[in-house]
Amino acid sequence: MFSLTAGLLLIAGVTAFPGNSLHSHGLASRDTNQPDPVPGQSPLFATYLGKQTPLQAKYLKAIPATQKSGRNSSSGQFNDDNLFQNLLSAEWAIYSFYQQGVDAFSTQDFTKLGLPNTTYERIQQIRDNEAGHVRIFQDHISSFSLKPGPCKYDFRFGENAESYLAMQVLLELSSMSFLTGLIQQAKLNSTKAALVAIAETESRHNAWALIDVWNSNPFAGPSDTIYPYANQILDSTNAFIVPRTCPKENPPYPFPNQHIPTLDFVRNTTTGRPGAAIQFTFPDQTNQPHFEYGKEYHAVFFHGVNNITVPFDTTKHTSRIPKEFDQATGLILAVIASEPGAPMEEFVVAGPLVLLQQPEGLTLLV
Ligand SMILES: *[C@@H]1O[C@H](CO)[C@@H](O)[C@H](O)[C@H]1NC(C)=O
Ligand SMILES: *[C@@H]1O[C@H](CO)[C@@H](O)[C@H](O)[C@H]1NC(C)=O
Ligand SMILES: *[C@@H]1O[C@H](CO)[C@@H](O)[C@H](O)[C@H]1NC(C)=O
Ligand SMILES: *[C@@H]1O[C@H](CO)[C@@H](O)[C@H](O)[C@H]1NC(C)=O
Ligand SMILES: *[C@@H]1O[C@H](CO)[C@@H](O)[C@H](O)[C@H]1NC(C)=O
Repeated sequence: MFSLTAGLLLIAGVTAFPGNSLHSHGLASRDTNQPDPVPGQSPLFATYLGKQTPLQAKYLKAIPATQKSGRNSSSGQFNDDNLFQNLLSAEWAIYSFYQQGVDAFSTQDFTKLGLPNTTYERIQQIRDNEAGHVRIFQDHISSFSLKPGPCKYDFRFGENAESYLAMQVLLELSSMSFLTGLIQQAKLNSTKAALVAIAETESRHNAWALIDVWNSNPFAGPSDTIYPYANQILDSTNAFIVPRTCPKENPPYPFPNQHIPTLDFVRNTTTGRPGAAIQFTFPDQTNQPHFEYGKEYHAVFFHGVNNITVPFDTTKHTSRIPKEFDQATGLILAVIASEPGAPMEEFVVAGPLVLLQQPEGLTLLV
């Protein structure tokens, strides 16, 4: 295993120093004179190794609706098109993260960190799986609705393999928590089943990283973290989109979007772990929360299937991470809310913020 401390210093440096490499060549595509590969029936979405994307050119863009939706009740009233449009837009970011990693790195970039010689292979296979998710989500959007295309994304890993691997854990865990929210929006049983199956796959990716890359306990306690308001998490992935690079046909993402203020925290005054004091910040200067004078606000922390509400100081922006939560397991998600427990999405005033707990060494760095 590579030296964690040295790796983390590098990550901290890179995080504070956003790179500009966009790696757009990941979108070079393969030839199309063959029958369409089907996820679950093709090595392209499972075991294929190679820098070239597994996706055919016709799937690497926005795909217009082929039928007009009208009064016909099967045309848009009772489908999960909106959910899958949101999910496909998120998936483009996740797929692109892996395609960029495949483009940027080689086996040696990982072995020279002391990591197993299969690390680069795994990154390629996860890329294959994510390309399969793109195809699965495209196929779940009916012909009455547009299938959103990819934008350009900047994940700020600056060709550094260690910061890339740190970002990987954060993305896998965050995607597992937005899937627990999306499933609550699903109308069709088949959608719910597909979302569970996808979450299981993301969980395998994360377990692989915890074992092989981070040499840590791969388990996250009895349950990963549930957060019901998925679109709030999806909105935070907009930070990776290079401005004005999305296909102009794409619908707004996510839809609907509450546009609530983003949440961050001061890293040098906390451990970011259960029991620790925490001071929040609202980094988007153009979108600040408004706290009504004399009203109580709360920090609501989610971990596993439960949440715990803690007082929030509206002047100092301080609170405390509940000491009840398991140490070093999975993630804790925090929001600022106008009601204890934030029982409806309208009560969320800022956030969500993901506090990564596992691997513990990354809590303050991603
Ligand atoms: C409604 O749409 C379905 C699926 O496209 C089609 O089979 C059906 O004939 C349509 N019904 C009407 C009344 O247009
Ligand atoms: C990886 O290392 C193992 C031994 O640790 C070796 O048997 C295997 O051939 C190596 N594979 C590659 C692709 O280098
Ligand atoms: C989902 O499955 C349940 C249990 O089988 C069934 O009662 C319900 O009608 C199904 N819902 C839809 C929308 O198909
Ligand atoms: C903590 O970091 C902030 C900037 O994020 C800085 O203003 C502050 O002085 C630091 N505090 C300590 C105790 O290092
Ligand atoms: C938080 O927990 C409370 C109490 O169990 C529950 O009523 C509330 O709906 C939960 N909040 C969310 C956002 O799930």
